[in-house]
Amino acid sequence: MGSGIAEVTARAGADVTLVETDEARVDRSRSAIDRSLARAERSGKLTAEEGAAARERIAFTTRLEDVEGADAAIEAVIEDERTKRDVFRRLDEILPDAQFLGSNTSSVPIMKLGAGTRRPERVLGMHFFNPVPVLPLVEIVRSIMTEQAAVDSARAFAEETLKKNCIESQDRAGFIVNALLIPYLLSAIRMYESGFASKEDIDRGMVLGCAHPMGPLALADLIGLDTLQAVASSLYEEFRDPGSVAPPLLNRMVEAGLLGRKSGRGFYEHAR
Ligand code: 3HC
Repeated sequence: MGSGIAEVTARAGADVTLVETDEARVDRSRSAIDRSLARAERSGKLTAEEGAAARERIAFTTRLEDVEGADAAIEAVIEDERTKRDVFRRLDEILPDAQFLGSNTSSVPIMKLGAGTRRPERVLGMHFFNPVPVLPLVEIVRSIMTEQAAVDSARAFAEETLKKNCIESQDRAGFIVNALLIPYLLSAIRMYESGFASKEDIDRGMVLGCAHPMGPLALADLIGLDTLQAVASSLYEEFRDPGSVAPPLLNRMVEAGLLGRKSGRGFYEHAR
């Protein structure tokens, strides 16, 4: 999702420094952005000149220090609390004057990220949706320490620069959308696991019967089964609702490396 956030930011005319952990990931992000911009150019959403200008606005690096001087930062690293806390601790040092430090987390409480910084009042959630260039929503999440000025500036960036729509949520597991969506996806996996119906029919049921753009098992593959498992676990930890327990099939698939689109196979096979 980080490359999607970098892409929409560059398309909106802002300079971006995209930090990856290694050169292989830099190459992957660069190709994902190239593919997505080429797709937008083909469908007439972007001219070739606009696409080229967006590419030029993105600086790729493997050094977090290279974000020095940025107006704001948005973290989109793996859904692991320790890794995220470490990134926030370092961003806090590198960017003493940033207007906000946002996290695209789907599952880690914003307060836990803010607590590792010297200024938790400027730490907030900025939750984008996959695919970022297509879906128009950003959830803004304030912790009990987040100041209004940080919320205002993150919201202005999302709405005025990126032209996204914002909704605001308290710092509760799942925020608004995942608190509703994830138990539904887990129910679909349970339904499939129990032999109730085929995966194709479960998905066709929700596409044709409820006009969803894709069925729940196809959507689980799009989100990534490891991310789905991580969000399920944070929902269960917070609310203890049995509907948020990851079904055994989901756990086995994650253990097998069947993570959905990102690994080439999940409930379905995906060309990479
Ligand atoms: N990147 C950029 N653009 C993309 C894209 C991608 N990965 N995938 C599709 N698009 C664009 C296409 O270019 C096309 O644009 P156009 O109409 O201008 O040509 C448009 O989206 C529609 O694409 P397609 O015709 O290829 O395919 P579909 O009509 O089947 O749409 C979809 C694909 C956009 C993925 C659609 O099925 C959809 O919106 N699905 C639901 C996705 C969803 O629910 N996401 C939220 C997940 S939850 C989340 O992210 C939160 C996290 O915390 C878990």
